[in-house]
Amino acid sequence: MTSEPKKAGYEGRYIQGFQYYLQNSEEHKHICQFVDKVLTGEFPRIAEGKTSVEVLGVGSGGGELDAHMLSVLQTKLPGTPITADIVEPSSKLTEQFKALVAKTANLQKILFAWHGVSCGEYEKQVKDKGQIKRFDFIHMIQMLFYVDDYAATIKFFHSLLNENGKLLIIHEAANSGWDKLWKTFKRELCTKTISEYLSSGEIKGHLDKLGLKYEEHMIPNTCDVTSCFTQGSKQGELLHDFMTDTDNFQQNFSEEVKAGMLDLIKNKCSIQKDGRVLFDCTLSCLLVFA
Ligand SMILES: C[S@@+](CC[C@H](N)C(=O)[O-])C[C@H]1O[C@@H](n2cnc3c(N)ncnc32)[C@H](O)[C@@H]1O
Repeated sequence: MTSEPKKAGYEGRYIQGFQYYLQNSEEHKHICQFVDKVLTGEFPRIAEGKTSVEVLGVGSGGGELDAHMLSVLQTKLPGTPITADIVEPSSKLTEQFKALVAKTANLQKILFAWHGVSCGEYEKQVKDKGQIKRFDFIHMIQMLFYVDDYAATIKFFHSLLNENGKLLIIHEAANSGWDKLWKTFKRELCTKTISEYLSSGEIKGHLDKLGLKYEEHMIPNTCDVTSCFTQGSKQGELLHDFMTDTDNFQQNFSEEVKAGMLDLIKNKCSIQKDGRVLFDCTLSCLLVFA
C-alpha cells in the first residue's frame, strides 16, 4: 500500500490560494484545450467494443476538468452508458464538484460514485474488499505531489485499467518554475503535506522503470504572480502561502529564505512582461497505455 502524509485534501485557506492561482493562470483553459485536441480522438479508441465506459478521477478538486472531460466523452459516445468514480478527500471541493454536476446538462446521464477519501485510503478499501472495479479512463491531474510513493501509486492505479484503457497524468514539467522553486528550497518546503517534490521528469523515470508505455504532450503555461512582489498585498500573501504550501509564509520562514525564494521566483522561474511577473507553470501530460 502506498503511504501518505497525515493531512490529505485541500481545506480552508489553501483552497482560496488554489483558486486564486487558477484565476491568475490559464491552467484549466490550457488543459481543456489539450482535452479537445488530444482526448477527443482518444476517447472512441478507449471505448471501442465496450458496452459502457468507466471513468475514475483521482484528486479531482472542484471537478472543473472532470466536467469538461466527461462532457466531451458523453458527446463523443452519446449512446454509451458512462460511470464516473471520484476519489477526492476534500469535502469542500467535493461539494463544489457536486454543484457543478447539478448544473451541467451534459452530465445528467452519468452515474457518479463519490469516494471522500485519499487515494491511499481508496487503494486500501479496494484491496480489503477484494472487489476490483476496473476503469477505461483514469486521470490524476496535479495531485501526485500528495503521495509519498509515486511509483507505487502509479502502479496501483495503472493496474485498475481495462484493456485499451488510458491513465492520464498531468503534472508540473521538469525545469518549470515549480520544479526550480521546490528543488532549490527542498529542505524548507518538503516538510509538510509534500514530503518529496518530483516533476514530470522523475515521473517519466518511474514509468520507464515500471515498463509502462506512454506519450508526452507539453502544455506551456504561466501564472501572473506580480502580487507576490507588492508589499502588503493580501492576494500576494495568499499566493506566497499556496506556492510554498505554508500557512503563513511571512511568519514561517527567515528573512533570508523569504528573500531567496522571492528572488528565485522572479529571476529564475518567471519572465517579466509589460510590468508583470509571469511564473512558468508549464505542464506535462503523460498518457499512459494499459
Ligand atoms: C492541485 S489540486 C488539483 C485539482 C484538480 N485535479 C485540478 O487540476 O483542478 C490537488 C487535489 O488533490 C487533492 N488531494 C490532496 N491529497 C490527496 C490524496 N492523498 N489523494 C487524493 N487526492 C488528494 C486535493 O484535495 C486537491 O483537490
